[in-house]
Amino acid sequence: MAGKYAALREELAARPRTWLITGVAGFIGSNLLETLLKLGQRVVGLDNLATGKLANLEEVRGLVGEECRQAFTFIQGDIRNLADCRAACAGADYVLHQAALGSVPRSLEDPITTNEANITGFLNMLTAARDAKVQRFVYAASSSTYGDHPALPKVEDQIGKPLSPYAVTKHVNELYAEVFARCYGFETIGLRYFNIFGRRQDPDGAYAAVVPKWFAALLGDETVCINGDGETSRDFCYIDNAVQANLLAACATNPAALNQVYNVAVGGRTTLNDLYGLIRERVAEVRPEAAVAAPVYRDFRAGDVRHSLADIGKARQLLGYEPTHTVKTGLVEAAQWYIRRFRPEFD
Ligand SMILES: NC(=O)c1ccc[n+]([C@@H]2O[C@H](COP(=O)([O-])OP(=O)(O)OC[C@H]3O[C@@H](n4cnc5c(N)ncnc54)[C@H](O)[C@@H]3O)[C@@H](O)[C@H]2O)c1
Repeated sequence: MAGKYAALREELAARPRTWLITGVAGFIGSNLLETLLKLGQRVVGLDNLATGKLANLEEVRGLVGEECRQAFTFIQGDIRNLADCRAACAGADYVLHQAALGSVPRSLEDPITTNEANITGFLNMLTAARDAKVQRFVYAASSSTYGDHPALPKVEDQIGKPLSPYAVTKHVNELYAEVFARCYGFETIGLRYFNIFGRRQDPDGAYAAVVPKWFAALLGDETVCINGDGETSRDFCYIDNAVQANLLAACATNPAALNQVYNVAVGGRTTLNDLYGLIRERVAEVRPEAAVAAPVYRDFRAGDVRHSLADIGKARQLLGYEPTHTVKTGLVEAAQWYIRRFRPEFD
């Protein structure tokens, strides 16, 4: 494990803090919860269970000891409701704001609901955290903010025009965070996640992300559909790297690191065809028939960017971020979780 992160984990374990995680029952939120509880922290979680699941919280409770379980308080509430945000922020040292409606296609179908959660909810959380005198507000931003900007790799200060309502909401989050820093001296850090994947990412539903969807399909003997020609590329990033970025951002002390946005990725490019091959390899270890499973190709999806690749130099330099997992090593760990979930007989 990288130097700065290892030192931070030791420091947190020695001096526990109180954290609020919004979206705690979701994929990234529940992984933040697992890490923080294992480090002996006190955690409050807020979620309205729109896409998150109580089962994710149960799974985490099962992975930590009794003492850690007692250190977690769950509030079922909605960030669109300011009173819920205030109740959740009370007594928190740090906020890790993950709650939002993800998915570009969902936002194209229902921009209003996405706007309410992602912009009104975000502003409620910022306001409640500021008023509660929270020390640092770390929030989930998105690589979708790069929009139609052609440059590769993506560097934080060069963004294009948004390609979806979802991308608008994530950009507005950054603008509000910047204004709260300027007008109220409130410390924020935005993390532009690039296709995060790993345990507890939901494989179900119309808006599921590609990695869990393909694990589910191949483990279940279903055909995988690839949007476009498969040469679309992404900087897929394992969940442990994203958790690391959150903890480093919350506890960063370098003034130059504050009130900034950072790419959270690995800095590598994987095409959908490559990703399909990697997932198929993992699945074939338990289901040999999958080794010859062929995908079908269909139309490109509206609102998607063709290529996405991050420059992670800024996070490295200012936060001490050092990814612990590549796409390949992340997929090995993710596979274990999906196999346990879909084909427990192989575990
Ligand atoms: N997973 C990725 O690759 C990725 C990439 C870029 C950005 N993000 C952002 O990261 C964050 C977490 O994403 P995730 O992948 O864990 O998604 P997720 O859907 O698993 O988690 C989001 C959580 O927020 C909760 N939520 C939604 N609306 C809410 C509301 N109004 N009030 C309270 N809770 C609410 C959901 O119930 C869910 O538990 C989101 O802000 C998302 O936009 C994720």
